[in-house]
Amino acid sequence: MFVLALVNQKGGCGKTTVAVNLAGALAQLGHSTLLIDLDPQAHATMALGCAPRAGVDATVFDVLAGETSLDEAAVAASGGVWLVPAALELAEFEELAARLLHPEGILAERLEPTRESFDFVVLDCPPRADGVLTANALRACDCAVLVVETGAFALQGAIAAQRILLERHQREEHAFGVRVLATMFDRRLRIAREILIALQARFGPALFHTAIRESVRLREVAALGAPVQVIDPSSRSCQDFRALAAEVLALAAGEEQPESRTTASAADAGTR
Ligand SMILES: Nc1ncnc2c1ncn2[C@@H]1O[C@H](COP(=O)(O)OP(=O)(O)OP(=O)(O)O)[C@@H](O)[C@H]1O
Ligand SMILES: [Mg+2]
Repeated sequence: MFVLALVNQKGGCGKTTVAVNLAGALAQLGHSTLLIDLDPQAHATMALGCAPRAGVDATVFDVLAGETSLDEAAVAASGGVWLVPAALELAEFEELAARLLHPEGILAERLEPTRESFDFVVLDCPPRADGVLTANALRACDCAVLVVETGAFALQGAIAAQRILLERHQREEHAFGVRVLATMFDRRLRIAREILIALQARFGPALFHTAIRESVRLREVAALGAPVQVIDPSSRSCQDFRALAAEVLALAAGEEQPESRTTASAADAGTR
């Protein structure tokens, strides 16, 4: 089982879009894939056509705050993706966590018994780097993927996010990799091309070769309740996520360049 956390404290940079469609691409390739929605906004849940009924269906809140296992909470969603849905009640976990001794380790614990059930687990994080939900994701993941929109101020945001990840790294006992993914890339825009070059210079091999291109189709599919592989399998967005999935497979198989496995010291090198 390989666990990816999609992170960035910046809102609206494309985390959920990547989570849903990367999970769709991995599932389409035949890998059993679980998406865990860790955002009280529940956008990934909606994007996969799911609407948990309050008080009836289990959500990720029941997993983190109660006795429900991930296997019990997981539902078969569109595109062959398994989903542990979120609902607004997840916001209450912050308050509850303040009374617990090690609230940031709960998800990692809950994932242990599912190791045989899933090949990939994709964690969609809220736009907060310092909250307990993102802390749970970072504790549980093998690789944190920093999703960076190729627009104005992207590089500054990415560097700030990397710093936060690095601080977390130094506090964590387990080493997780850090990779950077450029998204909403529009080749026609000079700023987008310049930012991609700057990301390459800054993050080197930690930057995925694949950049997810800007696409109207991707905006649309979020409202249609299924990943792009289901809605428009011949689209270029579908190609982008297939290429990203291939890179993720190589990463999970340990075929990536050793220096792209950004441990604390290597991540530090990126800040030079
Ligand atoms: N590659 C893309 N091309 C075009 N639109 C995109 C792309 N990626 C994301 N979007 C759009 O940008 C908006 C924000 O994307 P998304 O919800 O994935 O971001 P997010 O980082 O998860 O946001 P939040 O921080 O609120 O969770 C959405 O309207 C989405 O459809
Ligand atoms: Mg989101």
